[in-house]
Amino acid sequence: MLDGKTAIVTGAAGDLGNAMARHLAEASASVSLWDIKSERDAQSALARVQAHDPGARYSIVDVRDRDRVDQAIAELPRLDIVCSNAGIVEAQPFLEVTGENWRDHLDINLTGCFNVCQAAARKMVDDGREGRIILTSSWVGSIPWPEITPYSVSKAGVNMLVKQMARELAVHRILVNAIAPGIVNAGLAGRQLRDEPQYAARVAKVIPLVEPGSPEEIAQAVVYLAGPQTAYMTGSILTLDGGCSLFQFDA
Ligand SMILES: NC(=O)c1ccc[n+]([C@@H]2O[C@H](COP(=O)([O-])OP(=O)(O)OC[C@H]3O[C@@H](n4cnc5c(N)ncnc54)[C@H](O)[C@@H]3O)[C@@H](O)[C@H]2O)c1
Repeated sequence: MLDGKTAIVTGAAGDLGNAMARHLAEASASVSLWDIKSERDAQSALARVQAHDPGARYSIVDVRDRDRVDQAIAELPRLDIVCSNAGIVEAQPFLEVTGENWRDHLDINLTGCFNVCQAAARKMVDDGREGRIILTSSWVGSIPWPEITPYSVSKAGVNMLVKQMARELAVHRILVNAIAPGIVNAGLAGRQLRDEPQYAARVAKVIPLVEPGSPEEIAQAVVYLAGPQTAYMTGSILTLDGGCSLFQFDA
């Protein structure tokens, strides 16, 4: 389905990003994996993608570092699909949020997306190529959730970044959308489910479809947003949250 297309995925050594890279490779795209992790720490993530795309490559790119992002984009022979997915979460009650925690979330989750997406869009426009840009938001970008104010605010910013870019890049046939996962039993939420009992207790009450989601479900939606079926879709936030944002009150 994505034959001849070249994709980058940021945060590709993490759980969701790695599933995205794998599914894009399975759909025949050539994939570049970007992450801040060392090559050694990313080795198994790369190997899983290379099982489908033997030419898949790994690059260390800190999305906060604009010079490094520009350099890594310039190294790509062509670029069709961008998954701006790298992100962090560290829970702190609002009254205890530190300046460092606030800045880290905005720098990585929001400014990181701006850096990657603007650099990628500039290349697509310079090359005269249509493109797809897919950001990883979250259901908590529009619904407040306890103890993650900087994270939620960063994802709310991502949602508006999507709409702004979609509006201005449509003329270049660059389509910009986001996926908004709910609670996935992997990656950031997977670690919180394991390590934070109060988080697991809250989660047990809020998913109408009961179970947390999987990285595969999220990655399949990314392939959909990268493919021909969504050629008339831009500026959308595609929510895959098992109904979390519909609210489930104890009845
Ligand atoms: N897991 C969930 O339930 C869930 C739900 C909603 C949204 N998300 C979003 O999915 C995305 C991926 O998260 P995940 O759950 O796979 O977590 P993860 O920790 O498994 O993956 C995140 C990856 O981002 C990388 N990263 C962190 N800082 C970076 C930087 N400065 N530059 C480049 N890479 C960096 C990490 O090294 C890691 O490999 C995030 O944007 C997250 O907010 C996750």
